[in-house]
Amino acid sequence: MSLLCPRLCLFIFCLAVLAFTGVLQLVTSHEESGEWDCKPDSEARVPAQFRPGVVTLDGHADDWEDVYGFEFSLLPALDPDEENAYKGGKMTVKALHDGKDMYFLLQVDGNYIYSKGDNHGCPSVALMFQVGESATYHRMGGCKESPNTCNKTSCRGYEVDIMHFSIGNAVPGRLYGGNPIDSREGNGGDRFGHLVDTYAWNPHCRNLDGIGPSGNDSTAQNDWRGAWWHSSFTTHTGFVAEDSPYASSGQKGTYYFEFSRPLRSRDSLQQDVQFTIGQSGKFSAAFWYPSDGNPWHGSAHYSISCDWVPLDVSPGSSSPVKGKSGSAWGAASGFALLLSVVSFCISIFVGYRVSINKAIPFTPMDRL
Ligand SMILES: *[C@@H]1O[C@H](CO)[C@@H](O)[C@H](O)[C@H]1NC(C)=O
Ligand SMILES: *[C@@H]1O[C@H](CO)[C@@H](O)[C@H](O)[C@H]1NC(C)=O
Repeated sequence: MSLLCPRLCLFIFCLAVLAFTGVLQLVTSHEESGEWDCKPDSEARVPAQFRPGVVTLDGHADDWEDVYGFEFSLLPALDPDEENAYKGGKMTVKALHDGKDMYFLLQVDGNYIYSKGDNHGCPSVALMFQVGESATYHRMGGCKESPNTCNKTSCRGYEVDIMHFSIGNAVPGRLYGGNPIDSREGNGGDRFGHLVDTYAWNPHCRNLDGIGPSGNDSTAQNDWRGAWWHSSFTTHTGFVAEDSPYASSGQKGTYYFEFSRPLRSRDSLQQDVQFTIGQSGKFSAAFWYPSDGNPWHGSAHYSISCDWVPLDVSPGSSSPVKGKSGSAWGAASGFALLLSVVSFCISIFVGYRVSINKAIPFTPMDRL
């Protein structure tokens, strides 16, 4: 009789554990609320391995072939609704570093569109990185101040770093971004190819590096470099501006945008992201595409996620765990927990049965 209570108690304990794990799942799946509805893909993350001497910054993607990339659906940034996803395909994002510089490749299918001199009549891409600890993906840092009141003091901690490449004046395969002439002026501009280095506290408080509402600082520079390409191009010998539009309009193919930046920049204004080997950062990528022949406008862009995507700057070149890590792990560990609880309960039950069958005499092994 004295065994009944432990048995009952343990049974109740088992039930409680099972119920608790169930309840826990309900709680975590009910976390999102509020006006901004965002359910990011928990598996989405981009590894940046140490792979020195692999890629050349020329807009061509063949040297990236063996580098793992994550495929993102492109949803409208302001209203991430699957129904309005970019119809051309997904965007593959790859990254690596060589111990000195970070490299990024954005690859997205799209019929060839090019309108020389018209940045809004050509596809365009941007990368955005968290700089300040409070900076949110949503609303480009999310500082609550208005354009009249935002400054480096009132929005301290909400800084994001943005690289934006508009290709209307950029010859495919040629290098754009940081250049001596714009750097001498102490800002993040690029008068040649419009591959600019900017920072923001929110969508209405956005400036080139070095330019600010409470004065300019001439110590800034454009730390990014990049090039673009489209798979329909048939020459590898080198385009010049006179070859524009470089290919005939409407051809099926893939756009490639390739970028690099030093892991650390000489920024002292909290306007550049700093990459650290062995640490993860938070970033996102955006894509503009002129639809139905109409030029795009600033806020009408696609984004790879409705929240920050982790970027893992790893010290070694070990293979990343490909794909399916996030939720698969969750399901597997949940199942393992369930199994262990069930087996624990069975062992208690068996132990109990054995203990009440004490009448069975002990049988030494050598007699069997
Ligand atoms: C920043 O903005 C705040 C609020 O508008 C203002 O009080 C402060 O003087 C500004 N600081 C600078 C450095 O402009
Ligand atoms: C800062 O630089 C921008 C762009 O060069 C210029 O338009 C602006 O007048 C400058 N502001 C100050 C306060 O010097």
